[in-house]
Amino acid sequence: MAQTIAVLDFGSQLTQVIARRIRECQTYSKIYHFATPAAQLRADGVIGIILSGGPQSVYAKTAPHPDPEVFKLGVPVLGICYGVQLMGHFLGGTVAHSKQREYGHGHLTIQKPGKLFAQLPRKLRIWNSHGDKLTKLPPGFVALGVSENSPYAAIADVKRGFYGIQFHPEVFHTERGVDMIRNFLVGVCGAQQDWTTKDFIAHAVEEIRAKVGKGRVLLGLSGGVDSSVAAALLHRAIGKQLTCVFVDNGLLRKGERDYVEALYARNFKIDLRIVDASKLFLRRLKGVTEPEQKRKIIGRTFVEVFEKTLKQIGRKAEFLGQGTLYPDVIESVSIAGNPAALIKTHHNVGGLPARMKLKLIEPLRELFKDEVRHVGATLGLPKEVVWRQPFPGPGLGVRVMGEITAQNLEILRNADAVLQEEMQASGYYWKVWQSFAVFLPVKTVGVFGDERTYDYVIALRIVESTDAMTADWAKLPYELLQRISSRITNEVRGVSRVVLDVSSKPPATIEWE
Ligand code: XMP
Repeated sequence: MAQTIAVLDFGSQLTQVIARRIRECQTYSKIYHFATPAAQLRADGVIGIILSGGPQSVYAKTAPHPDPEVFKLGVPVLGICYGVQLMGHFLGGTVAHSKQREYGHGHLTIQKPGKLFAQLPRKLRIWNSHGDKLTKLPPGFVALGVSENSPYAAIADVKRGFYGIQFHPEVFHTERGVDMIRNFLVGVCGAQQDWTTKDFIAHAVEEIRAKVGKGRVLLGLSGGVDSSVAAALLHRAIGKQLTCVFVDNGLLRKGERDYVEALYARNFKIDLRIVDASKLFLRRLKGVTEPEQKRKIIGRTFVEVFEKTLKQIGRKAEFLGQGTLYPDVIESVSIAGNPAALIKTHHNVGGLPARMKLKLIEPLRELFKDEVRHVGATLGLPKEVVWRQPFPGPGLGVRVMGEITAQNLEILRNADAVLQEEMQASGYYWKVWQSFAVFLPVKTVGVFGDERTYDYVIALRIVESTDAMTADWAKLPYELLQRISSRITNEVRGVSRVVLDVSSKPPATIEWE
């Protein structure tokens, strides 16, 4: 059995980030309900416990408290933020209640590095977010470091292996925070750092098998990274008990459907059902030009088609697989403001599982995007899938301005294919966040050979970003832009002009609709 670090979750938005940092240190961790009995943790053989942060005051009526016995298990404990207040509260210190939260950057001055701060500089930038504050140390504890606002920014009872830090080592804004966590795992808990992506897969496979038994799982495969990796992982676990459904909504990129079929059905031998609903989508979109209305129609029609398909093929199915990730916590951007505001909600197929009495199975739900890519690569998915750019659910429907017609879609598809080819050939495809073409229903005059033309405009939208919340237009070499433009006007019938979108987000968005 893998060495396990237990993360007791006291309700912090950052609990999953702690788990992620532990994985970064090649160590297995499991998130437990805050009140999990100590006996359970002992039975699971945990080698260390991390008490997460949380929004409450330890004195609040509804404050989540751990089983006090966790402090008697004889394994090291690291309290983070609310976790350190719990240590103070349960181990005989004093915690002062404060109505105001201390929020933002601070500086840690390390007085006693010990094992927790081994090999680290004496002064480090840290990130705080807490209300209550420890004012008297519990017996046996000493201060390891101070900050502007606290003489007890870091504390320890080295004999028992108890450590507490007032700030958040798991966030990007705490300098060398991962090293602190690694020091706790390796230096204090004796973690061997042998947990790899392969182990994650083996573990996930076991869990899926245990949950699914002889049951059947249905999964909507979009071809994007998340559903692709979920499909590959579920297939590894349960093979033929998995059926994937790919809906062709008529708004796909050129060659997408064939690519998906070749990869999953022929290469991976996944039971893949392709549903061609393109005519239905186009019929419903006829005459519609308003962006939100387009999205609604596309979304509704998708759920309808998907549900109908599942009913047809899945009479005995019990599970609906989904490539849900841990809602993307944006770590690389400033974490100023409410951390909750930095969490994007993920989209799924609404109330469908409940309506169909399906149980959800989400094998990636604790992972972050980059971890999912590693899992996908380890499962043998090609680079083109694992590192592909995001593509919106409504597909080319939000990239054809004005009315969506078969003809406009065809022009856009061909122009976009040229763009993708050149982006991939030059390697820029992998360096930018997104690169795509947009169809503008505007006719302009041109000249082709000796003939006057009067054709449509294609806009190139190529952006750099780290999280899609903000974006800037990518400064590609002129030679590349020139090649893309001349190839599109030469090769794509119906286009006489190519323009480059040089707007950043904000105020523009990445997609045009
Ligand atoms: P915007 O246009 O809002 O896009 O700057 C931000 C990111 O989200 C993608 N996007 C969508 N993804 N369904 C999706 O699954 C949608 O309706 C949708 N709209 C935008 C967009 O491609 C970009 O990566």
